[in-house]
Amino acid sequence: MRLKDKIAIVTGGSRGIGKAISELFAKEGATVIIMDLLPQGEAVAKDILASGGTAEFHKVSVTDKSAVENLFKQVNSKYGKIDILINNAGITRDRTLEKMSEDEFDAVIEVNLKGVFICTQAVAPYMKSNNYGRIVSAASNVGLRGNFGQTNYAATKAGVIAMSKTWTMELGKYGITANAIAPGFTMTDMVDNIP
Ligand SMILES: NC(=O)c1ccc[n+]([C@@H]2O[C@H](COP(=O)([O-])OP(=O)(O)OC[C@H]3O[C@@H](n4cnc5c(N)ncnc54)[C@H](O)[C@@H]3O)[C@@H](O)[C@H]2O)c1
Repeated sequence: MRLKDKIAIVTGGSRGIGKAISELFAKEGATVIIMDLLPQGEAVAKDILASGGTAEFHKVSVTDKSAVENLFKQVNSKYGKIDILINNAGITRDRTLEKMSEDEFDAVIEVNLKGVFICTQAVAPYMKSNNYGRIVSAASNVGLRGNFGQTNYAATKAGVIAMSKTWTMELGKYGITANAIAPGFTMTDMVDNIP
């Protein structure tokens, strides 16, 4: 049980990689707070409870600053701390540069970049007061090398890498680590539409 007694928030935990993270963390002893827009997160939390773990689901968007702040406050007062934040929620709106609308660009920035900023900013005070924290954010291989049709997505994932490096400088002295992971192609609903 590598995460015994840890309190972990997983954004985008209703399906795909975030669901797998939530299930594995629960198996390793963490209390998992699943935060997602999709209601399937309720079933993920129920299954975790049924197999002896601890989990809660909250329908909150990573883009809703006050809802995120309220939830984190609630979690901290219920469990006394927040140890881990997994910034996993993400979306795509793929289109080549000349065809990409401003709305498509903004939507991806809002969730993948600003959402990660909002959640990390909201969790930092709790981790600082506990002198411990683990922040892991989903970047992507695409953030390192770009990708056809993903101007918006590539920018956000490169941004997540840069923000994580910045947070190591600002938060490291409080026992908080910040890492970005860059998975390659993973078969989830997100990549269903890619030919
Ligand atoms: N699948 C891949 O090949 C791959 C590769 C590299 C990186 N990633 C990254 O990994 C993460 C997870 O990807 P996935 O493939 O599991 O995707 P997915 O689409 O299966 O899951 C993403 C989850 O995020 C949730 N979400 C979206 N917007 C949200 C919001 N505003 N607030 C809260 N939750 C929100 C969705 O509802 C969904 O449950 C993403 O950040 C993605 O960019 C995926």
